[in-house]
Amino acid sequence: LKQTELVNLVAQLSLEEKIGQLQQLTGNFYTEEEAEITGPMTEVGLTEKSVYEAGSVLGLSGAKATMEAQSKYLSKNRLQIPLLFMADIVHGYRTIFPIPLGLASSWNPKLVKKTAQVAAVESAVSGLHVTFSPMVDLVRDPRWGRVMESTGEDPYLNQLYAKAFVEGYQGDLANDPLTIAACVKHFAAYGAPEGGREYNTVNMSDRQLRESYLPAYQAALEAGCKLVMTAFNTVDGIPATANRYLNRDILRKEFGFKGVLISDWAATKEVVAHGVAANEKEAAALSLKAGVDIEMMAFCYQHFLKELVTEGKISTDLIDEAVLRILELKNDLGLFENPYRGANEEQEAALVFSKEHQEIALQAARESIVLLENKQNVLPLQKQEKVAFVGPFVEYHDLLGNWSWKGNPSETETIKEVASKRKESIEFVATSGIWELTDEELTAAHKAAEKTDKIILFLGETADMSGEASSRTNIQLPTAQLTLLRELKIHGKPIVVVTFNGRPLDLTEVAELSDGLVEAWFPGTKGAQAVTEILFGETAPTGRLTMSFPRNVGQIPVYYNHFNTGRPIDANDADNKYVSKYLDVSNEPLYPFGYGLSYDKVSYQDLVIQEETIGLDGKISASVTLQNNSNQPVTETVQWYVRDIVGEVVRPMKELKGFETCIVPAGESKLVTWEISVEELAYIHVNLEKKADAGEFVVMVGSNSSEVLAKTITVKN
Ligand code: IFM
Repeated sequence: LKQTELVNLVAQLSLEEKIGQLQQLTGNFYTEEEAEITGPMTEVGLTEKSVYEAGSVLGLSGAKATMEAQSKYLSKNRLQIPLLFMADIVHGYRTIFPIPLGLASSWNPKLVKKTAQVAAVESAVSGLHVTFSPMVDLVRDPRWGRVMESTGEDPYLNQLYAKAFVEGYQGDLANDPLTIAACVKHFAAYGAPEGGREYNTVNMSDRQLRESYLPAYQAALEAGCKLVMTAFNTVDGIPATANRYLNRDILRKEFGFKGVLISDWAATKEVVAHGVAANEKEAAALSLKAGVDIEMMAFCYQHFLKELVTEGKISTDLIDEAVLRILELKNDLGLFENPYRGANEEQEAALVFSKEHQEIALQAARESIVLLENKQNVLPLQKQEKVAFVGPFVEYHDLLGNWSWKGNPSETETIKEVASKRKESIEFVATSGIWELTDEELTAAHKAAEKTDKIILFLGETADMSGEASSRTNIQLPTAQLTLLRELKIHGKPIVVVTFNGRPLDLTEVAELSDGLVEAWFPGTKGAQAVTEILFGETAPTGRLTMSFPRNVGQIPVYYNHFNTGRPIDANDADNKYVSKYLDVSNEPLYPFGYGLSYDKVSYQDLVIQEETIGLDGKISASVTLQNNSNQPVTETVQWYVRDIVGEVVRPMKELKGFETCIVPAGESKLVTWEISVEELAYIHVNLEKKADAGEFVVMVGSNSSEVLAKTITVKN
């Protein structure tokens, strides 16, 4: 439709029909017969009429189911305005990719874009129009279960991934029905809850919000993201969903966002519990005034907007504006021409979980795995070695992780299923539980350990231990699993631990007791194969962390781009008590941002800066030489960091400003060059202006944020 036709359509709608467009309901309202009579509909005070006026649905998919729901809906909707189908397709539809924190460890936005394309194709043929992804919340606290859905602690990387996800999902949205609209979430700063406790208060300065947290949302919008979801938390004392400054001033005015703003699940009504509205009527007024267009699974708009309009407390213009945005989205997706858009049972059967898609899942899993320890080159396993595969994840199908709605653990191969196809001598001892270890299992593990050269333990957290509402204060492996490790240590044989988990764990003891340590995350549909390939050396590990692993929970938050403080540790005055440190543990994380080993290593030599003094409009040009003295090619992710020594406000010790993954052939060296304009070193000043300053900068390059070569340069006015 043309814009004028959309505006006319809004004008034809009754107030009830307009309010209906702002309502999002779950799929069961359209699929269960009883929903129409006694079920959820009456429970929440809806009528059949209001159900068939609601503008969108969440959590219903499948070509047949969505087409049936759409057709029934259209037969009852007065002006035949099609429904929008939305769902949480976070790391794949049925072909499941590694969790986003794992995908991020690939340091490969192109690959991430490809995974989003696959997710879009599978979702679109299954009748979906919108995914509630990407989640781009910056995270620093692994107690928070949703770190699994994030791409990590770095604003620069998060921006690249935000763009990659959005481009992958949306592609040529207007012309290609095998795409879906993206919804970036959770606006804003949901990743910073106090104490890592889910839904908890977020408090930060406007400057920090803009400097570290907002850039990734903005990158998603610049990539054309069609929707934004509000966050559950407060930002500076005002719940994000009722926050006019956030949603109107920043999102709409500053960032120029013209798309649809949807609340998180019932977040409109929750402003009452937060304590900024006395009741749901006030909550409706606050949320609409703050710019929330769609209310997800709460009924404040439905029950109170009409009354608020009649009382003159809400202008119909605000409602019309929200309805128009929703109709524009439907129009952008071509739903007025074809309400069934990509839904197609035949294509669904052919494309969903296809061999090609699984191949991409395998590649993503390979690139997401991070090798954390490899003492005395215990890995890769050698063909002639006898090994025992032990632990709760040996015969465990759920390698998919949280938010893998349509992913099916029963069609996900286990480690044992994959590894038993190999020729090597492997004994399997699958222990039954994440939390338990029976005496029989322990005896079997001891017996297997006695007979083998190396012990490989497959340990971790279950999928529901991370994700939404899964905060934990103890982020060690469950005691039963630590007991298994401690017990098997007595054999004096090399031990490799592979962990499956959704958050950085406290692996201090595991790292001490093991020789090899592999972070597999939840690696998805083809995870078992990727892990096995890495253990046996057919694939060399290349993943690098995008979130620091703490030494213990007391160190949290620990992240690489921190400030120096006024009393930093001085290596030349190590006994000084009155510096910023702990008495019982180092300030450094166990594994820093950017860290990850491979089976062979390159060394960094000769950091060269072309011009050590440049102007504010100039560019920094640098190079470094990578030397590979091994007899294997090495894939290396070269990371460039910068520190602005003196700023108007304190600047981080390091900020990632660029990276490049390259292959250094066996026995050769490679020159890697890098260029960045001074403009890209801009930061948010006291008056919230973003600009770069003259002064001294340290340019650093290395294989992770802790091991770098450094040179100082001067930027002149
Ligand atoms: O998209 C999610 C959101 O991230 C958390 N609350 C529920 C939404 C819909 O499932």
